[in-house]
Order: sequence, then C-alpha cells, then structure tokens
Amino acid sequence: MYTKEEIKDHVEMLIDPSVNKSFKETGGVKFLDIDEEKMIVNIIIGLDKLEDDYKRAVTRSLAKLIKLDLGFTGIKADFELNKKSDSILAREVRYIGIASGKGGVGKSTVAANLAYALKTLGKKVGIIDADIYGSSIPTILDMEVTPPKGTGDEKIIPFVKDGIELISTEFFLAPDKPLMWRGPMLGKMLNHFFYDVVWNKDIEYILVDLPPGTGDVALDIQGLIPQCKMVIVTTPHVSASHVAVKAGFAAEQLKHEIIGVVENMSFLKHAGETIYVFGNGGGKIVADKLKTKVLSTIPIGQPKDHISIFAPDEEIGIEYLGLANKIIKEY
Ligand SMILES: Nc1ncnc2c1ncn2[C@@H]1O[C@H](COP(=O)(O)OP(=O)(O)O)[C@@H](O)[C@H]1O
Ligand SMILES: [Mg+2]
Repeated sequence: MYTKEEIKDHVEMLIDPSVNKSFKETGGVKFLDIDEEKMIVNIIIGLDKLEDDYKRAVTRSLAKLIKLDLGFTGIKADFELNKKSDSILAREVRYIGIASGKGGVGKSTVAANLAYALKTLGKKVGIIDADIYGSSIPTILDMEVTPPKGTGDEKIIPFVKDGIELISTEFFLAPDKPLMWRGPMLGKMLNHFFYDVVWNKDIEYILVDLPPGTGDVALDIQGLIPQCKMVIVTTPHVSASHVAVKAGFAAEQLKHEIIGVVENMSFLKHAGETIYVFGNGGGKIVADKLKTKVLSTIPIGQPKDHISIFAPDEEIGIEYLGLANKIIKEY
C-alpha cells in the first residue's frame, strides 16, 4: 500500500485548474490521511478560486488517481480557499479584456474611455495595462510616470487617476525605478499585477488592455482569469477587421466569451456630413464572423479638455456611456 507521503507526491503533480499550476506549486494539498480499514483517502485541497467547475474537475482527476492508479476503494475530497488568496483573484470581479488584431486601432483609448464611462455610471473600476511591452494607458490618462510604491509586505500600491485604479508596466520602467523591479520582474509582470497589487476592496470591473494579436499574454490571461470576457476593437477597414476576427477566434479558443465588437474611427462628422475615412462595415464583418454584435461605433474625434478622455456630455463621451451601459446589462 502507498504511504501518505507517496500519495501526496502523486496528488501534487495534478494541476489546479483555477490557476493552471500544479498543486505542488500552489501548496494546494492541505491535508491528507488514509482510512486504512475502509481503504479510503481523505483529502483537503486548497484552490485559488472555489468554483464548482474547478471542484468537479479536481474531484474527477483525484478519483482517477486514487482509485484507478493507486488502487484505493474511495476518496473523500473537501475544498477550501487558498490562504494566499488575499489577491484580487480570490474576489468577485468582472474582467473585461479589450482585444484587437493589430495595434493602432484605438484599443487602449477605448479601454481608458470605457473605464471612465463605467465610473460615470457609478461602477468602481480598475485597469490592468497588460500590453506589457507597449503599455500606454498612463500616457493616455495624462499621468506622471513615477515608480510604483510598495507596502511594507512587498505588495504594490496601484496608481489612481480620477478614482480609477491602474497598474501598468510603464510605471515600472520609470527612469528612477527601484532596483527590485528591474529585469526578472518584467517576465512575470502579469502575475504581479494580479497577485501582488493591493487593489481596492470594492472594485467591480477590471478592464484589461491586452497586447494586439495573439500570444503569451493571452495564454497567461486565460490561466489567471479564464472568466474574463472580451470586447474586440477594430477599425472599419477590411484589413483591420480581417485580423480582428483572428483575435476573436483566438479568444474563443481560450474559452473567453465575447461581449461584442467596438468599431473605432468609424467615421468623421464634418460640416454636417458623415465621411467614412477608413471605409465602412469592418465592425459588422467582425461581429458577424464571431456571431456577436457591434456594441458601439466611435467616430474620429478629439476630446475638448483632455488628450484622450471624452467628457460625459460630449457626443463621443455619450457614445462611450452607451457602450458602458450595454456592457453592464450583460455582465
Ligand atoms: N476615435 C478616435 N479618433 C481619433 N483618434 C483616435 C481615436 N481612437 C484612437 N485614436 C488615436 O489613435 C492612436 C492609437 O490609439 P491607441 O488607443 O493607442 O491604439 P492601440 O492601443 O490599439 O494601439 C492614438 O494616437 C489615439 O489617440
Ligand atoms: Mg495600446
């Protein structure tokens, strides 16, 4: 018969589906005992997120391991939330990924304006600038780029602009950044954004500004926040819509629900006329191919009193409020 230690070694090789890491990495095996009379293994597993789907998946893989592979009669598994889950990941937050096929279509601008619109509608909002190597949200929000401040216990304090909390690589690349945040940290930046930032307890929505296209960050996001829903941004031009569709399919493959499409730079209003500067219909093409809908068409324009953020009483600001409203209704 297998000893407790041997069984634990086996269980620790299983994957915690809530974070896509082994239970050895997460320290998820909290308790393990054998009822030798009944040949039953009792086990308590710590998960980063206590969702029924995860519990079922782990129960299944435990049953296979303990009964089929190791030959016990039964397994009794209980679950608890991992203690280290003082992070945002353990909380009920609605994540909205802002994705696009290529850069320059206005993804970050849309993310930032959507954050303000959600805030105007009374939501508590945060932004994760996950475009690690092309981060731009601090610039869009007209913020001074200074290094982040830490807490006594090595957590990172998020930046706040107009009540919106924000974290971005741009801050970590500030010229006088502290030594601890150089080099190696960049590679694991995304994990730090989720595990180590002390986000406000009341945050309801976190917008995630994703890098253009499909890549490692998309996989990391899937592992960290599989429940993240996506908004796809495109311009009206067919070439942009073509790659936006690919980004949408990639998100679907990673099992993210797509809320809808935002067509940005849709048209220009000038002297009472509507001019389709970048062509027409790209948003609809993307929405049709992804079997979703166009949530909003944002015209070309500049805000009155800010470099990138439209006030709620400007025409484009009102369009963003409409977008935020639709999103709140669904999610
Ligand atoms: N609707 C718009 N009208 C005019 N300029 C826009 C609009 N949306 C974005 N821009 C501008 O286009 C550029 C690229 O936008 P950005 O949000 O950085 O794109 P991305 O994040 O997709 O690379 C920026 O200079 C931005 O100010
Ligand atoms: Mg961007």
